[in-house]
Amino acid sequence: MDRAVIFLGPPGAGKGTQAKELAKLYRVPHLSTGDMFREHVSLGTPLGEQVKPIMARGELVPDSLVLKMVRERIERPDCSHGFVFDGFPRTVAQAQYLSVLLRQNGYRPALVVHFALDPALVLKRITGRRMCKVGGEIYNIYERPPKVDGRCDNDGGELIQRPDDREEIVAPRLEAYEKLTEPLVSYYQRLGRLHDVDASKSIEEVRRRVLEIVRNSR
Ligand code: AP5
Repeated sequence: MDRAVIFLGPPGAGKGTQAKELAKLYRVPHLSTGDMFREHVSLGTPLGEQVKPIMARGELVPDSLVLKMVRERIERPDCSHGFVFDGFPRTVAQAQYLSVLLRQNGYRPALVVHFALDPALVLKRITGRRMCKVGGEIYNIYERPPKVDGRCDNDGGELIQRPDDREEIVAPRLEAYEKLTEPLVSYYQRLGRLHDVDASKSIEEVRRRVLEIVRNSR
């Protein structure tokens, strides 16, 4: 792959589902800033304590905290053949910082995959999501149920609901997306780097489209 791929889109659009698959296929790291923060929260680190209430309200974590964590992560050796970003960048300031960071670390400009999904579909996707407590595998009680209720197919881990997946937190998350993250769509469009995916299609159809974009990219 040898480059950074960015998955951009509203909450519940399927970024994490596809990012895990793509990263596995190309044997590169899947970097989810949401997962990184959730790990800090579950470990009770100082950063975790700081971001926990922000995430619980469905707001964005301040750029200063995100950027430091991302820089440290992509400078690790396992990122040297590329990586898939899921949930980063999320503001224009984060995108500008990333482009400098990529240049400084010898990467080509990022390939941006935009998951377009009608906000009306977001609620069902998010409230139906369950996540494995052990390996992080993502399920959906409506669209992608596990074989055994409440247990992960891969490792038997307990399936839990994210605290920010409660119905009342969906509206603030969508609001944060529309206000702060959606401007990135035109930002990357202007740079000629944006590739659209219709995220309302099935998981398999979206996977095929993502692969087509990555394979045809230069
Ligand atoms: P984060 O974890 O990044 O959440 P998000 O962007 O809101 O995205 P989601 O994880 O909700 O959705 P997804 O698109 O990955 O969908 P998924 O594949 O799971 O961020 C959480 C919080 O952390 C933020 O609110 C913020 O506070 C903080 N944060 C993180 N990064 C930050 C940053 N850079 N700056 C500032 N703050 C930051 O799929 C959803 C469901 O749908 C699943 O159940 C899945 O099985 C199902 N599904 C997936 N695809 C399909 C399909 N094609 N058809 C039917 N069902 C599908």
